[in-house]
Amino acid sequence: MNEFSGSTNFEISDQKVTDSCPSNIALIKYWGKYENQIPANPSISYTLNLCKTNTEMAFFAGEEFSVMTFLGGNEELKFAEKIEKYFKNIREYLPWILQGRYLITTENTFPHSSGIASSASGFGAIAKCLMQLDQTFSGSSNEEEALKKASFLARLGSGSACRSLYDGLVVWGETKEVLASSDLFAIRYPNDEIHPIFKNFNDWVLLIHEGEKSVSSTVGHGLMNTNPYAQRRFQEAHENFLTLKTILKDGDMDAFIKLVEHEALTLHAMMMMSDPAFILMKTGTLAVIDKIWDFRKETDLPLFFTLDAGANVHLLFPANKDEEQIKEFIIKELIQHTQNNGVVKDVMRF
Ligand code: PMV
Repeated sequence: MNEFSGSTNFEISDQKVTDSCPSNIALIKYWGKYENQIPANPSISYTLNLCKTNTEMAFFAGEEFSVMTFLGGNEELKFAEKIEKYFKNIREYLPWILQGRYLITTENTFPHSSGIASSASGFGAIAKCLMQLDQTFSGSSNEEEALKKASFLARLGSGSACRSLYDGLVVWGETKEVLASSDLFAIRYPNDEIHPIFKNFNDWVLLIHEGEKSVSSTVGHGLMNTNPYAQRRFQEAHENFLTLKTILKDGDMDAFIKLVEHEALTLHAMMMMSDPAFILMKTGTLAVIDKIWDFRKETDLPLFFTLDAGANVHLLFPANKDEEQIKEFIIKELIQHTQNNGVVKDVMRF
């Protein structure tokens, strides 16, 4: 039993709910976990604005438990299987969840093959729909509590999804540097501890490689169990929180750039030092990084990058007077390294 255990006092009925949830991009990365999706280290991300999943969930009360899912109009059997398993897994927290049939229709606002993680926005949207049903069935109306529980439930679907439930900078994983941080759910990083220059940011995602990744993040997390550098990495993530706290407060852009790029490269270094080793970056990824570093040296403008568990490059730059020059450079010099001229232009949501 914990604070998220569901009440047995509920009344189910046929319902149709809709909700949406954005994706997020980590600055301090989560890579490595323990049982029940407990992260090996704390992480912090920016929540995106335009890259999101819209979900409609129809619940047919009292029918035999089953899940049917449609993504962009096509039935997705594998996704349905995953969701069925997930629902069974969280029944302790939503005791009504297996007492009906589900028809779930989802669509992503970003291209399906883009390699942008849809699991964060996808599980975020599903968790929000479930909490709408839960509030209806149990008659509760505390929105903050519902959001916290949605974050808790999303985490059990896909770890980093729990951060997508909140806007702005979001922390998941217990760290003494952030009051009330938890391994079980995400919380907003305190807004008044963030300098305004970090509140208005672009994230343009260069689609260097579209399609399936050669190694899934589930397998990648697992390989941290035997990675000889893992403990040092987990410790470093904690240390980076301390550094980041001061950076965010002081508005130190140079130190921010250094830390964020270091985190991205550390994530990929961990992959290369796994056994078996794997590399998710492509030549285009490295070419873009090289050009970003040259551009910064020449112009001193704050264009920098972070990476997910894939080849795509997230280009981060503040939305201010310099952004036109940076955008021109991206269009002229960086887009040529994508597979199909693919770039998703997003901004951070605060
Ligand atoms: O939530 P998962 O299991 O897909 O893992 C995500 C891991 C990274 O995207 C690489 C880092 C992060 O913190 O989001």
